[in-house]
Amino acid sequence: MTARLAGKRALVTGASRGLGRAIALRFAEEGARVAFTYSRDEAGAAETLRALQHGGREARGTRCSVLDARGTEALVREIERDWGGLDILVNNAGVSQNLPLALLEEEDWDHVMDVNVKGTFLTSRAVVRGMIRRKGGVVLNIGSLAGVRMIEAPIHYFTSKAAIKGFTEALAKEVAHHGVRVLCLAPGLLEDGLGKNLPDHRLAAYLKHTALRRVGTLDEVARVAAFLVSDANGYMVGETVVADGGL
Ligand SMILES: NC(=O)c1ccc[n+]([C@@H]2O[C@H](COP(=O)([O-])OP(=O)(O)OC[C@H]3O[C@@H](n4cnc5c(N)ncnc54)[C@H](OP(=O)(O)O)[C@@H]3O)[C@@H](O)[C@H]2O)c1
Repeated sequence: MTARLAGKRALVTGASRGLGRAIALRFAEEGARVAFTYSRDEAGAAETLRALQHGGREARGTRCSVLDARGTEALVREIERDWGGLDILVNNAGVSQNLPLALLEEEDWDHVMDVNVKGTFLTSRAVVRGMIRRKGGVVLNIGSLAGVRMIEAPIHYFTSKAAIKGFTEALAKEVAHHGVRVLCLAPGLLEDGLGKNLPDHRLAAYLKHTALRRVGTLDEVARVAAFLVSDANGYMVGETVVADGGL
């Protein structure tokens, strides 16, 4: 295994389980020092931290919601003080609910839009300032096939992920000349995480129409993430990369 991310310092939001944990572990295996956040799942976070620290690797996990602007600023300043900066941010924390429009309450809409979109803004703002000062870094936003292609998905979730694609393009244009690359990774349906609670008919439709006839694994997507944030990928800016098994 080449240590593609050797010497890199990364922050991954929402890594107490699911894709965030897989990305954090993949980055650590490829040589990065990894910090992560979560908002509730203490047991999952402890498991992620244990796995990250395997073999004496340096890592940190902090309970801090992506909606806690002050907490996020304080955490980023602390990591920058202790590690000298951050090279990689992965805005992964995300939520969804399987509800049709007619049953969506205003609070449901706000919660999904807040965590998925405002959380990405608040964390990016806290981290990108330092990246601009240090003239380097990569922000990887986790989007979704929902938001990129016209598939069946809850409208608040779909809308939030379409916003992430737009956020990626606007921020990429704004900060590229400071040496900061901003990208979006849009997975299709995965073996675990948010996709697990899909109604059977939606899973069946996905399997039927996907060229590979299967859902993706968390590690398959984490490996794409590791390439996207690596120095081997220096000329890709503002792009949304889809990993969906061919839909
Ligand atoms: N799984 C899929 O099929 C799939 C497909 C396409 C895109 N994605 C995207 O992948 C990302 C990860 O989703 P997942 O499937 O891995 O879901 P998941 O297993 O539910 O994990 C979500 C993570 O986000 C954290 N989180 C939720 N709200 C948070 C908040 N306010 N502040 C900080 N952390 C928070 C959760 O931790 P706590 O509970 O501790 O807060 C958890 O660690 C999301 O952006 C999702 O949209 C997933």
